[in-house]
Amino acid sequence: MSTDPGGTLGELPLPSNAPGPAHSWWRDAVIYQVYVRSFQDADGDGVGDLAGVRARLPYLKRLGVDGLWLNPFYPSPHHDHGYDISDYCDVDPLYGDLAQFDRLVTDCRLLGLKLVLDMVPNHCSSSHPWFRQALAAGPGGPERARFHFADGRGPGGAMPPNNWRAMFGGPAWTRTVDPDGTPGQWYLHLFTPEQPDFNWREPAVAEEFQRVLRFWLDRGVDGFRVDVAAGLFKHPELPDSTDPEADERSRDSVNPLAWNQPEVHGVWRSWRALCDSYAARDGRERLLVGEVSVPTAAEQAAYLRPDELHQAFFFHLLTAPWEPGRIRQVVQEALRDLAGSGSTVTWVLNNHDQVRTPTRFAGPDPLAGAARAGAAALLMLALPGAAYLYQGEELGLPEVLDLTDEQITDPIFRRTGSRARVRDGCRIPLPWSGGESPFGFSPTDAAGAPWLPQPAYFAAHTAERALADPGSVWHLYREALQLRRGLPQLGEGTLRWLEAPDGVLAFERGERFVCAVNFADGPVPAPVAGTPLLASGPCPPGTLPAETAAWWVTGPDPG
Ligand code: GLC
Repeated sequence: MSTDPGGTLGELPLPSNAPGPAHSWWRDAVIYQVYVRSFQDADGDGVGDLAGVRARLPYLKRLGVDGLWLNPFYPSPHHDHGYDISDYCDVDPLYGDLAQFDRLVTDCRLLGLKLVLDMVPNHCSSSHPWFRQALAAGPGGPERARFHFADGRGPGGAMPPNNWRAMFGGPAWTRTVDPDGTPGQWYLHLFTPEQPDFNWREPAVAEEFQRVLRFWLDRGVDGFRVDVAAGLFKHPELPDSTDPEADERSRDSVNPLAWNQPEVHGVWRSWRALCDSYAARDGRERLLVGEVSVPTAAEQAAYLRPDELHQAFFFHLLTAPWEPGRIRQVVQEALRDLAGSGSTVTWVLNNHDQVRTPTRFAGPDPLAGAARAGAAALLMLALPGAAYLYQGEELGLPEVLDLTDEQITDPIFRRTGSRARVRDGCRIPLPWSGGESPFGFSPTDAAGAPWLPQPAYFAAHTAERALADPGSVWHLYREALQLRRGLPQLGEGTLRWLEAPDGVLAFERGERFVCAVNFADGPVPAPVAGTPLLASGPCPPGTLPAETAAWWVTGPDPG
């Protein structure tokens, strides 16, 4: 096998659409999240781009995922790395252009990879033409009705219209300056001031997003990851909150006045109808996967009714500690409440907003973190439903924790002054090959250094090394994905917990497939005799070592 992790596809014509399979592809798909900025830099400016994504599609195909989700690549001033969009129907020149995007669509189709885009409907950029027009138009006009503008309270309107705080720190309102230089109205932003929230009670907003969705669907995409999908609508009166700091404190959408309003479901029904109309035409089912941050799985299920979103990330596994009782509980809740909704559970262990698993699970021993992350991956890929992987997870990348204050770019740091849960450490440009930065992320003659510095120890995590080492995390993921596709017991379905010693979780899927994870610090007798099909670490027959997960099919003994 070649160890070249890359390889490009030439310019090939798009094959005609085949009718979709009877089984909905997304129900047990494994999608790879590409944080475009940090994936592969083809033009040497130190920032990843669409040409880089194209060049690495064969790598993703070999890994064995079903498709990819691209973080936002639209024109943006990048105050929140693209989640502040100034034009929803174009490509930021930093990442390429529409012609490059179209070639990416073609290549994905040729390789049988689904392509999912990120859509950000809760807010845009303060550089978006609509927001500029709103500022210029002054109070009371239709231009301001597309956002939440309001007069301030107190003498001279000097106090914000309510007491809400933004999730990324500071007040959720910013005061504008009128064209004559005097202080004006305030506008609402639940994230940064550069991300004004749309007013979804204004019909023009919904119409505009239908246009945007059609624009990308017409270019051939397979669906959308919907940012902040429990957002969009706010309480119509915008009243004061009794706990205004709750979102900022938890860094989660918990203010019941700002999120999870009943009207949002109408939006998802209309987006679903649009996606279904495309599928009805060509047989290719389009996917809506939501970032639905609501407190419980039961509340999330409301977003997954058959005419709403297809999937929602189940974040409780992503935030669960490395404890068998807690993990079993969140798995149970998800299966009961989400699978019960008719959808499947969408598992996720890593993404661009969270600390990477080898670091999150490390505890006092950093080496334990790597073993636990591998075990968690085997656990996740054995659970019923779909899964999302985040780039670099398959390389065992840890979180980078030693960035200096000057190197940190996350607006959370700027707005709160706190390093707690700052997100740059999981967004470091990927190491592909070689022994020093840029590790193949940029061409060797690149003009720009990688936009975030790569630590020297990334040399041990390059894709080149991982592919050459059959014992690497990369091969664990690849084999798990292959088995997942080949074993009828995996993917969609149910699970049955098995009796297991303390500190061990074991469950059966379908007929005679067993997955067990040992969370304890010492080995335990394996719940199944014989050699496992796959294990996250050395696993002699009859034993399940500490911090290890393994899969067996009982009965036929391959050993
Ligand atoms: C979502 C994204 C996050 C972004 C935020 C605001 O939570 O995952 O990266 O900062 O929305 O758009």
